[in-house]
Amino acid sequence: MNLLEAAADVRLRAYAPYSRFKVGAALRATSGAVHVGCNVENVAYPEGTCAEAGAIAAMIASGDTRIAEVFVIADSPAPVPPCGGCRQKIAEFADLDVKVTLCTTEGLQKVMTVAELLPGLFTAAHMDRT
Ligand code: THU
Repeated sequence: MNLLEAAADVRLRAYAPYSRFKVGAALRATSGAVHVGCNVENVAYPEGTCAEAGAIAAMIASGDTRIAEVFVIADSPAPVPPCGGCRQKIAEFADLDVKVTLCTTEGLQKVMTVAELLPGLFTAAHMDRT
C-alpha cells in the first residue's frame, strides 16, 4: 500500500473541529503492514491526540512493534513536522535512520530521519546507572 495515499486518506477522517487542522499519518511496520492514524481533538483541548500517536497505537494494537517508514500529511504551507511529543513517540519504535516524510496536501515533501527529527534523544540508556 502507498503510504502517502494512506496518510492522505485517513487525514480526511480526522476529528479537528477546534483547530480545523486535519493531520494524517501512515506508517509501515517492519512486518510490512501499514497502520494509519489521524488527529482526534477534544473540547478539553489537552486531551486531543495527534495523528502519529494514533498510527502508533494502531500498530501496537495489531501486534507490530517496529516502524520501518512514516508519512505525515496536512494542509500546511510547508511540509508538516511532527510535534515534539510525537518525535519521541516515533523514536520509541524506530531506528535512528528510519525516514519520516513530511508532506503537504499540495504535494510538497521533505524527508527527514528520526535522528534529524530528534537530536540528543532521551533513551533507556540514560536511566542506566551501571
Ligand atoms: N497535530 C498532529 O496530529 N500531528 C502533528 O504532527 C502536528 C499537530 C495535530 C494536533 C492538533 O489536533 C492539531 O494538529 C493542531 O495542533
